[in-house]
Order: sequence, then C-alpha cells, then structure tokens
Amino acid sequence: MMQRMKSPILVATSLAWSPREGADSFVLQEVSLTLEEGAFVTVMGPSGSGKTTLLHLLGGLETPDRGTVLLGGTDLFAQSQRKRTILRRRYLGYVFQFFQLLPDLSVRENIILPLLIAGKDPAMHQRELEEVVEVLDLQKLLDRQPHGLSGGEMQRVGIARAIAQRPPVLLCDEPTGNLSSKAGEETMRLFSKVRERYGISILLVTHNPRDAAYGDRVLFLRDGRLDPSHSLTGPGLDAAAVFSRLEELSI
Ligand SMILES: Nc1ncnc2c1ncn2[C@@H]1O[C@H](COP(=O)(O)OP(=O)(O)O)[C@@H](O)[C@H]1O
Ligand SMILES: [Mg+2]
Repeated sequence: MMQRMKSPILVATSLAWSPREGADSFVLQEVSLTLEEGAFVTVMGPSGSGKTTLLHLLGGLETPDRGTVLLGGTDLFAQSQRKRTILRRRYLGYVFQFFQLLPDLSVRENIILPLLIAGKDPAMHQRELEEVVEVLDLQKLLDRQPHGLSGGEMQRVGIARAIAQRPPVLLCDEPTGNLSSKAGEETMRLFSKVRERYGISILLVTHNPRDAAYGDRVLFLRDGRLDPSHSLTGPGLDAAAVFSRLEELSI
C-alpha cells in the first residue's frame, strides 16, 4: 500500500480562551494539536470541558486570547476579517449537533446553500453535487423539507452540505448527540467513508467513547487542557480502550 502523505493541514499551538477579556479563569489553556492530511482525529471530553469552544477557535468563529491556528500553513488570526472568511470557506466544512438545516428550504437547497453564499454557480458543480448526494444516499430526499426527516437523515444532509465544496478539513461538533444509537453508528461509518473517499481530514469532538474510537487518534480534553501524553492511537484502539483511559484520567 502506498504511504499516505502526512503533511499537517491544521495546526493549533498553545491556544487559550476565557469568556471575558482579562479574566483569569480559562475555558481552554495551552491547547495544541495537529491534524494531518487525511487523518481522522477525535477529541473526547465530558460536557462543559470546552469541546465546542475548541472548534470555534479552530474554525475562526472565536478569537483566542493566546496561541495560533495555521490552516494550510496560513495563520488564521493574522488575517484581516475578510481574508479570514475566505480562508475558512476554502478549508473548512462544519457538521453540527443540531444539524442547523434551514426549515423552509428543501434538502437540495440546503446542500447547495454554502455554494450560493460563496458566490458560486451550483450548475458548475453539478457532478460533485450528484456524487455527494449518492455517497450520502440522499437521492430520494432531495425535494423533501427537513421537518419530515429522521435525525439520521437530517445529519446526512448536514454532512452533504459540509462536503459539497470538498473542503480539506471537516470539523464535527458532537454529530451523533441528537441521534439514536443506531443512527449514530451509521453516521460515524459515513464519516469514515467520506474520509476514505475524499481524503478529507476530520476533527470530531464527542463525549461518546464509541464515537471517539472511530478516530485513528483520540485526544482527551480535561479541565480545558489536552495533554498529548494521554492520547490513544494504533491497533487496539476501540471503545473499551477509550473507556479505560477515561477511568485512568478520572474523567
Ligand atoms: N461565551 C461564553 N461565556 C461564558 N462561558 C462560556 C462561554 N462559552 C463557553 N463557556 C463555558 O466554557 C465551558 C466549556 O463550554 P463548551 O465549549 O460549550 O463545552 P462542551 O462543548 O465540551 O460542552 C463551559 O463551562 C461553558 O459554560
Ligand atoms: Mg459542546
């Protein structure tokens, strides 16, 4: 098998964030992580540990008090607001816990909305769109509206929307948090499929050990810190291994 290129696509260094300027209680402190091209990294942490805040910083939605984020080698927070937006659109897709679909739009319209916002003509991207619809098995749902769909179906639409423009990086915030256990597993398998198919790099945060085990590296967020020596990787990485690491760390 050919060795995959492993150059970093997203690099966070020493991120710190507190809710108020000058506050001494940090939600995140000294958080560093690297996402390589084509990697699937999961961040495991209990509710309130700072997972959503971390994704907001990595995605440039929130500005850190300290630290840097490099996207494709470019320093996200050293850019003007306009350039930061362009960088985010070029590199990142988001998948949310509550799907964030627009209720008045059809499934098809929800999927192409980011293209329209980026000023692109969906007709020019017809083939990619058809392929995404096929990969996520959405052919029969295109003319439906979100309210009639199951949670699993809604999340498939959310993933299709996130990858329609083939971003190199997918940021996922507890994407199974509102799904049944079965739909959650199907959704996790779709992330693996999407990673295989497109070589997209995935960073997924979760409080579910089973979901975390889908990553090829699991990081543990505790008290706003990500200690790299606690990470799990390699063969034998499964939900049981994630559980016992959680116990060792008293998370
Ligand atoms: N804008 C904010 N103002 C004040 N506190 C916040 C804000 N955003 C997050 N927090 C706090 O930061 C902590 C981490 O929140 P969050 O990142 O949402 O955690 P998680 O996604 O892991 O549940 C929580 O204690 C939360 O109350
Ligand atoms: Mg959260």
